[in-house]
Amino acid sequence: MKKVLFFASAMMLFASCAGPAKQEKDLIADNIDFACKQIGLEIDKIEASGKILNPVTLRPDGSVYYCKYNDWRSGFFPGSVWFLYELTKDEKYLPLAEKYTEALAEVQTMTAHHDIGFIVMSSYGNGLRLAGIESYKDAIVKSAQSLCTRFREAPGIIQSWDTKGWQGERGWECPVIIDNMMNLELLFKATELTGDSTYYKVAVSHADRTMKEHFRENASCYHVIDYSLTTGEVRNRHTAQGYAHESIWSRGQAWAVYGYAMCYRFTGDRRYLDQSLKTFEMMKNHPRMPEDLIPYWDMDAPNIPNEPRDVSTAACIASALYEICTMDVENPAQYKEYADKIMESLSTDAYRTPLGTNGNFLLLHSVGSIPHNNEIDVPLNYADYYFLEALARKKALEEK
Ligand code: GLY
Repeated sequence: MKKVLFFASAMMLFASCAGPAKQEKDLIADNIDFACKQIGLEIDKIEASGKILNPVTLRPDGSVYYCKYNDWRSGFFPGSVWFLYELTKDEKYLPLAEKYTEALAEVQTMTAHHDIGFIVMSSYGNGLRLAGIESYKDAIVKSAQSLCTRFREAPGIIQSWDTKGWQGERGWECPVIIDNMMNLELLFKATELTGDSTYYKVAVSHADRTMKEHFRENASCYHVIDYSLTTGEVRNRHTAQGYAHESIWSRGQAWAVYGYAMCYRFTGDRRYLDQSLKTFEMMKNHPRMPEDLIPYWDMDAPNIPNEPRDVSTAACIASALYEICTMDVENPAQYKEYADKIMESLSTDAYRTPLGTNGNFLLLHSVGSIPHNNEIDVPLNYADYYFLEALARKKALEEK
């Protein structure tokens, strides 16, 4: 009897979460077809060049900016090719995804910034998940060791940025950005692979301190918290990429929603899921959230509604919500519905580029950093990456 009830409630949960409307199936098929063609054009270009190029965005002159292995965005293009494999099961993508991933090998010993988690989990992490490549385990563990070198005992936190260059000019001592939550996946994975809890403990310490210091009463988060390396106390609560210290920089909220849901996946600690949900609710209920659910780059930007949107935020939130709707949450369908609405918006001509244009990126209208006058209203490879991840998660939910 118990079993029958469990089965019935599991089916109801699934039915409410999955809800396979015909229109949504078309949306998935249409986007897979488009992504294969559009990224296929970029792959053709890369293969014809005889080099391994790693596309990030469009420059102001319309040319594609290709990055090196140590750019925080270097894992996203290889990761997108892994998603094409996941979405199509076409084995022609495997050697390409492997080649683009392995071109990042040098990153494993990089200790210059915290973004090794983004880089390695989007490339090697997806390769391990989808193709089970044994040597990628070592790459993940070695990279986790590199990330742990940035752990600072007094604040109990991973230092995001060094304080040279523009970060030094801000007077920071140990700047930690909310984005860093995304890098913790690398540490949790390393403990899962090795059984060594060192990585897990660093991740939990970082997640806990961040939860204490980064969030305001209304569950929105600051971008940068600067700590004292000697006393561990907070020195400053600032922004780097947002409109103002006290404003709601949208992508930071997306990193928090996704990052804390991911922490719950690995730890089962309810506080993390609650934080993710609270920050999501804050964004969802924000009076300036546009009807199509694609946020402004900063929800407090002064000229709303005449401010750029940020598609990368929307794609990241959608992907997180497809995971959240499988977790122990009340009314899981509401999270899938919200994600589906985002995906519908991103699939319209307002946000999805025509085939063969836009430097072969998938989506228009993302923002890198307005305060740095950098990458404003452009395509960005991480918007495409989280869009494809969301699509793969949505497809998996609806096929179950
Ligand atoms: N991690 C940098 C950014 O979100 O722009």
